Amino acid sequence: MSSEKTGVGILGLGKSLPEKVLTNSDLEKMVDTSDEWIVKRTGIQKRRLLEKNQPLYELGVDAANKAMADAGITAEEIDLVIVTTETPDYLAPSMACIIQGKIGAKNAAAFDLNAACSGFMYALTVAKQFIDTGFYKHILIVACEGLSRVVDWKDRATCVLFGDGAGAAVVGPVEQGYGIQAIEMGADGTMGHNITIPCLYMNEEDAAKREHENKNVIWMDGSEVFKFAVRTMAYASEKVIADSNLTLDDIKLIIPHQANSRIIEGAAKRLGVPESKVYVNVQEYGNISSACIPIALNEAVEKGLVSKGDNIVLVGFGGGLTWASSMIRWGK
Ligand code: UT7
Repeated sequence: MSSEKTGVGILGLGKSLPEKVLTNSDLEKMVDTSDEWIVKRTGIQKRRLLEKNQPLYELGVDAANKAMADAGITAEEIDLVIVTTETPDYLAPSMACIIQGKIGAKNAAAFDLNAACSGFMYALTVAKQFIDTGFYKHILIVACEGLSRVVDWKDRATCVLFGDGAGAAVVGPVEQGYGIQAIEMGADGTMGHNITIPCLYMNEEDAAKREHENKNVIWMDGSEVFKFAVRTMAYASEKVIADSNLTLDDIKLIIPHQANSRIIEGAAKRLGVPESKVYVNVQEYGNISSACIPIALNEAVEKGLVSKGDNIVLVGFGGGLTWASSMIRWGK
């Protein structure tokens, strides 16, 4: 392979999780649930939560600084900051502008991107286009999510599932033959009503679904999303593997969105891959929407599970409904 940098890949990674831990036994004291039910149905054992007055951007800034250090580049070398979130601190300024200012990325444009749990994967695709065309060289993606702020803590069907955290990646040029080899991205807005978080408007149907006083909370038809998630994780993984002219045997690791260990097991079975090839950390953090994949990828790299030349598949699915996947030949 030539050392010419015509590929586009991940140059550095960072993650940041709040210190506060909420365990399943803590939840037993809050709603009618049990550690046994949560572990059996979801695999989740605990999740991290922001403190009441802690801004979410704080986690994003921390993850971003770590990703730039890992990539060995300065904030001034960043051309674009994309923040993926469905729980921004402010609608204006965008989270991307807040973080751009805090890290001193003074040469960068900045915008937020909301594709719910698929956000990081959508942003990776956007970043690749800008770098492929030569318009930008270094793009910082920061996935930050504070789901604890939009959870109804009286609704046992959802409050046990989610957590807070941030993951970041610097995307830029890598050696030819390495980096992102294939991308799949899609949406089905006709199924959007299956996961909703109303913001400044909500229709009567969505208001009626929310039993408690606070209506600006997440509502989900768990079993509909579950079926979609298993189907989509398998399809979107197979698609990028085939588009890279590879087979499952060539794949070192699949890193999926961490919504539920049963979704991951179901999709792995459908794909016919051993569970040892699929990275799972949902037991530690629960579902952190778009931040799940960069956090899991960072952990997998830190554990030495991914090295230069390995083929890995990242696959996201969730609200929208949306999905996106990528086959990456690790170039670091
Ligand atoms: O990131 C976005 C994508 N999100 C997802 O992918 C989530 C997809 N969905 C899921 O992960 C699962 O559907 C859930 C974990 C949300 C629910 O699991 P399930 O196996 O589909 O359970 P269910 O909703 O069918 O509920 C089964 C029973 C119900 O009781 P009945 O009607 O059988 O008496 C629920 O009321 O479990 C009850 N239940 C609970 N029990 C104890 C629901 N939540 C709880 C709870 N503790 N926390």
